Amino acid sequence: MPTAAVILAAGLGTRMKSDLAKVLHPLAGQPLVCYPVELAIALKADPIVVIVGNQAKTVETLLFERYGRRVTCALQREQLGTGHAVLCAEKALKSFKGTVLILSGDVPLLEKDTMTRLIRARGKKPLALVTAQLDDPTGYGRVIRDEKGRIVEVVEHRDASDAQRAIREANMGIYAADRDFLFKGLKAIGTNNDQGEYYLPDLVRIAHAKRLETAGIQADPLETRGVNTRVHLAELERHLRRAVNTRHMLAGVTLLDPESTFISPKATIDRDTVIGPGVELRDAVSVGAHCRIETGSILSNSRIADGVHIQPYSIIDGGEIRNDAIIGPFARIRPGSDIGMGCHIGNFVETKKSTLKDGAKANHLSYIGDAVIGCRTNVGAGTITCNYDGYAKYRTTVGDDVLIGSDTQLIAPVTVPDRVVLGAGTSLTGKVAAQPGSLIVTRSEAVVTPGYRDKLQARALTAKKKQAAEAKKKTKTAKAGKADKKKTKKS
Ligand code: UD1
Ligand code: CA
Repeated sequence: MPTAAVILAAGLGTRMKSDLAKVLHPLAGQPLVCYPVELAIALKADPIVVIVGNQAKTVETLLFERYGRRVTCALQREQLGTGHAVLCAEKALKSFKGTVLILSGDVPLLEKDTMTRLIRARGKKPLALVTAQLDDPTGYGRVIRDEKGRIVEVVEHRDASDAQRAIREANMGIYAADRDFLFKGLKAIGTNNDQGEYYLPDLVRIAHAKRLETAGIQADPLETRGVNTRVHLAELERHLRRAVNTRHMLAGVTLLDPESTFISPKATIDRDTVIGPGVELRDAVSVGAHCRIETGSILSNSRIADGVHIQPYSIIDGGEIRNDAIIGPFARIRPGSDIGMGCHIGNFVETKKSTLKDGAKANHLSYIGDAVIGCRTNVGAGTITCNYDGYAKYRTTVGDDVLIGSDTQLIAPVTVPDRVVLGAGTSLTGKVAAQPGSLIVTRSEAVVTPGYRDKLQARALTAKKKQAAEAKKKTKTAKAGKADKKKTKKS
């Protein structure tokens, strides 16, 4: 049967005490609202309608940037309740027939299997919902069942009697409904409750009044839990992190300290890779097999091939690191960097929009930007590509097997032929008319002046003496002046 999804994300999220809409708060680096959207995509729901209200424009922009036309937004101008929110999707679902899944923008850990179970449980019934047995169901709607165990209504906590509040089975706010029943039912919902809002779960009562049964499935409380405060956010973050880390460890990845390792749910890691304490793999990083990523390194948006060794405290963002490369400690690989097989990038080396071909080495204190460094070329300590004149960026091209001496400036645009030796301290610019294998030095010969240090010292000493003498003279004249004034006053 065709499936559509409505995701509720218009609420204020007052209890977050935040200037940022609740559904935009990140969990494991990704805004909360993205979780139900990606679940709906995984379930092949179409259309996917997100109900926006609070900070509607920002939420809409984010969704469009990430999911394009796969997601439609419907505006709920005033937050009149969850029932009213779903009604705002009616227009977008006008020509749709089938099952409408209703998800909550603030329930991020819900799994696909649970939704498949829910859809199956609904079968031909008009409505199905997800419930959970909670140790503390305070604040949740309670699921009321008849003597045969059939769900007859959901009563919100604030509207519930003491006897109803004693029920621990809670409505988790996740539904599957037949489209036609849904919108007919929503129009029959009133606001006769403690908050004066249109309550979506009132659909259960409406179905029951028509002798239609609501199906229910029980799910894990943590999986179906909503985020209302930052405490909840932190709890789900920890839970998610543990789940992700456990999955990797079971798949053959060693985490030396899982409690301090942050791996995005979207990252992939191949077996026998060892990850040290305090490492973060943000977003869709992929790491190959037999890699070592040491303490405190942060990787984002990058592809790391097999056998790569990333030494402590390296930052890799938007890089392609090929087999057996060694990076760090304290290296910074920036977007557009392609580090070839067996390359070495050492401490305090920064690369950006640069290709280092196989076997190239830059071991100490360098900036390599907008450059191509040839195979096996050695970049000496302190070498800088001067790629920016304040207005535009220029390229540096260095051939294969070049030896670049320490403290070299490559003033781009500049090209260095294969096998050239650049003398230490060289400042090079333009296309150099040199045969491969030449020595290029721009360093000037040393100028030697014997006895210079003694002259320098003597000159400094003379200047100092002169200064002291002048200061003495000044104080003398000043004193004499004062004495004269006193005399004139007395007379
Ligand atoms: C809701 C259910 C409750 C259930 C609980 C599970 C209702 C009336 N109650 O309560 O039975 O136990 O979820 O977490 O539905 N929203 C809108 N527009 C609105 C109001 C809410 O888009 O006008 C969105 C919110 O942004 C949120 C979701 O709907 O994503 C749930 O709303 P919330 O106010 O948190 O409902 P609860 O009081 O938690
Ligand atoms: Ca809620």
